[in-house]
Amino acid sequence: MQISIADIDVRLKPVLYRVDYNEPIKNGVVLSDWRIRATLPTLDYLVSQQAKIIILSHLGRPGGQFNPNDSLRPVAQHLMSFFDKVQIQITDGIFGQAVNDALANMKPGSIFFLGNTRFFPEEERNDFNFAKALAQLAELYVTDAFGVMHREAATVTQLPKLMDSYPGLLLHKELETLDRLREYPERPFTALIGGAKLETKVGLIRRLLTRADYILLGGGVANVFAKATGHDIGMSYCDDAQLAVAKEILAKAEGKLILPVDFVNEGRGDKFRYVDIGTKTIALYSQYLNGSRDIFWNGTVGIAEEARFANGTKALADVMAQAKGITTVAGGDTIAFLELNKLIDSYNFVSTGGGSAVAYISGEKLPGLEALRGNELGSTI
Ligand code: 3PG
Repeated sequence: MQISIADIDVRLKPVLYRVDYNEPIKNGVVLSDWRIRATLPTLDYLVSQQAKIIILSHLGRPGGQFNPNDSLRPVAQHLMSFFDKVQIQITDGIFGQAVNDALANMKPGSIFFLGNTRFFPEEERNDFNFAKALAQLAELYVTDAFGVMHREAATVTQLPKLMDSYPGLLLHKELETLDRLREYPERPFTALIGGAKLETKVGLIRRLLTRADYILLGGGVANVFAKATGHDIGMSYCDDAQLAVAKEILAKAEGKLILPVDFVNEGRGDKFRYVDIGTKTIALYSQYLNGSRDIFWNGTVGIAEEARFANGTKALADVMAQAKGITTVAGGDTIAFLELNKLIDSYNFVSTGGGSAVAYISGEKLPGLEALRGNELGSTI
């Protein structure tokens, strides 16, 4: 049985709340806040219980040392816009007298951000003693950091083994939704898989071939398969190292892998490259999506970060937003695209996982989840 924080007593207790607030930030402004908003139900619950909420998150890849560009300060600032009366404090450190004093003086129902965990080399070294010192700061560990569960890191894989640990409401929802999708989806089930690098999607495509009825391909991922079938893709982006894998997958695909039938080209002669899917492909893919009861989307189908090459992605995003089937989407670029186009609220479930969601749906064991499940002290998931 799954136990969540709603089933335990968190009242007035100091709680280490591990989240993934790894959001794009420019000039101190949070550009996309999906992962922050997704934690609000857990935060609201903890605040309502007057817990003392000590937030732990990584941000960027500062490589084990302080870098002001990777400070969580803009995130804390952004979070303030969601709470009127909740006190939110932040430091860039984790240990030391000043932090200890601040934690000791925390008011019930307030939030305190510790420094970016990746400012400390021990985090990515998965250091046991670092986690042990952190465990002294609170009574409970609650995690919603699904986005980083595929990484071995002290605050992800060591801490839950050292403390009474529970999934937050977001992690609960992630697992409920993705478990359903990867184990018993509604049929017909169609997946749309794009993005640049096939290498990062091979496990996902293999798994989907055993579960989905159709896998529609786009972007750089489709280019490799197109080249593997003998199609001339000119100078288009192509993960050539994956050609043999693509051929092997195609041989087993039994007609489930659907490739674009036309493309938008840039350049001329043999110097052309594909930058988007064409109108016939949009029409074809729309038919599959409209006829599906379950839909999973990961990866844009063209160079969608350039508005002039984003037509295919936008057209399919609109189709899925209106589709009758259950829509689930994962992946940083895909979600940024939905946010930019104000479509994010039209999807049934938007995962906070990028690589972790892909790994989970592929059937991989995620170290962070395994640690939570293996916790002998508390009831977990
Ligand atoms: C993500 O954004 O996918 C997660 O926060 C993990 O970040 P990482 O790829 O830098 O480990």
